[in-house]
Amino acid sequence: MCGIIGILGSKEVAPQIIAGLKRLEYRGYDSAGIATLHDGRLARRRAPGKLSNLDEALSATPLPGIAGIGHTRWATHGAPNETNAHPHMTERVAVVHNGIIENFAELRRELEDKGIVFESETDAEVCPQLITYYLQTENMAPVEAFKKAIGRMRGAFAFAAIFSGEDDLMICGRKGSPLAIGRGNDEMYLGSDAYALAPFTNRVTYLEEGDWAVLTRNSIDVRDEAGAKVQRQEVISSASQGLVDKEGHRHFMAKEIHEQPEVIAHTISRYVDPSTKTVRLPNGVFDFAKLDRLTVTACGTAYYAGLVSKYWFEKWAKLPIEIDVASELRYRDVPWTKNGGALFISQSGETADTLAALRDARANGQQIATVVNVAESSIAREADIIFPMAAGPEIGVASTKAFTCQLVSLACIAIAAGRIRGTLTAEEESVLVTSLLEIPRLVSEALKQSDKIETIARDIAKATGIFYIGRGVSYPIALEGALKLKEISYIHAEGYAAGELKHGPIALIDENLPIVVIAPKDAHFEKTVSNMQEVMARDGKALMVSCKDGIAEAGGKTWAAIETPQTHPMLAPIVYTVPVQLLAYFTATTKGTDVDQPRNLAKSVTVE
Ligand code: F6R
Repeated sequence: MCGIIGILGSKEVAPQIIAGLKRLEYRGYDSAGIATLHDGRLARRRAPGKLSNLDEALSATPLPGIAGIGHTRWATHGAPNETNAHPHMTERVAVVHNGIIENFAELRRELEDKGIVFESETDAEVCPQLITYYLQTENMAPVEAFKKAIGRMRGAFAFAAIFSGEDDLMICGRKGSPLAIGRGNDEMYLGSDAYALAPFTNRVTYLEEGDWAVLTRNSIDVRDEAGAKVQRQEVISSASQGLVDKEGHRHFMAKEIHEQPEVIAHTISRYVDPSTKTVRLPNGVFDFAKLDRLTVTACGTAYYAGLVSKYWFEKWAKLPIEIDVASELRYRDVPWTKNGGALFISQSGETADTLAALRDARANGQQIATVVNVAESSIAREADIIFPMAAGPEIGVASTKAFTCQLVSLACIAIAAGRIRGTLTAEEESVLVTSLLEIPRLVSEALKQSDKIETIARDIAKATGIFYIGRGVSYPIALEGALKLKEISYIHAEGYAAGELKHGPIALIDENLPIVVIAPKDAHFEKTVSNMQEVMARDGKALMVSCKDGIAEAGGKTWAAIETPQTHPMLAPIVYTVPVQLLAYFTATTKGTDVDQPRNLAKSVTVE
């Protein structure tokens, strides 16, 4: 993970680097640092923890210079302290790095054997040390030294380097991790994404896999992995300049949860024709009539969206679905079919495992589609087909509105697939579309339970463990509820298919274990309620999430209940996500954890 920024500027760069890093903090916030060039010499400031600590350090001791690099870190090798914070440097070169250098131990040993002393525990430090070795011992010029050093590294990475005595030079390279170059007027910028560059320029050139580039204030010289000069197209980025703000909410997560009625409505409008009650897909999508299998892949919350879609594609389109988390799928020997399609779901569009799985599917002849939120991301750029979602920027690390918008997109794709495959009648499509159009209003209704959920969360916050259960399309919502709770409140939580409980986990039920039962009124309602009764018979504290009728029918003796609007049973996951999001949010605020930037996490996971 980690975010990188580099600037060859015309005025003091430290404040600009901080502004760019603010937009990259979603990539990691364990520590941050910057290095600048002033009078031909390199100097740096670093600080553990959030970027605000670095900002304070710079206010106390400013760093002059009109050229510099900056970094915000998500620790992989070495604790998140100041010594391990980037930039790493010698007198000759300062480097920022995103990714993992897999053979760093071997390179480090080699350099230590030559008497070179390392100061950090990071994999990244081998880069400046190796470059310096080539500069000093082999008398190489910066470009040669950088090229030789990067050629020796295995793994996934992006680097930027500045050199002492070279105030109009920055060299960068990527393999696995993204890098975007931004051209200004007599200024050159570099960042992990176009969003980081948006305050400075919208003229963006994306480096491709294996590329490295030599930058000056007025020139971009890009080479491919083999060293051949290549042209990469400059595009006009649409990344917004403004920083998204909380609009009166305490946290971005709260704002994003409350935005859902609006962004879900926007996403629906991208697919649905309300006058004909039909779904339209973008041109050139999979030939669903011929598709023999759809492989759906993602990570974390996005994977749970995919898991819901499995039920939809199977029911409406009778389409065989293969679904796995990307970190597994990419290393499996998948027997890809001749007429297969592959669908990748991602909010950021930069998740390393999802991107690698996409490349694997492409290498195996699959047509590639994606449901992705960030339109300029690597996944969006590498897919054949982009299915839109309109969640807008998601800043809270825990995904909320992106998940429900992914669900909406996937529901629309599955409905269209059913129509094209002749497995869903026009009447069924019309019923589903009518129900979809009601979802924004129902999500608003669900949000009205906030106060009640906040009260319940005060008790949940005392628990040391919690289970979530659900059946059918509600099973992935149980998984998502548990993930949301654990990542922001740090309470151990697990989601189970309700029918699986008695195959082991029920042994943990006692009077201290709350269990959230996702039970919309659907074909599984009675069975889910039976599982809830089994929990209650063992003194478990059942929190039933159901509609008014469901609670009236079965919620009498439960510990607590959250009323959630009734919707089409197959579309219930979109609405039933809201109470589990709110429960996680209020449990975290009760505990006082860092809701938007929970410990150990980052918004964009660019390492495997
Ligand atoms: C959890 C969460 C993560 C992401 C996962 C995939 O709240 O946000 O589990 O869903 O890291 O990220 P994207 O969707 O960016 O590929």
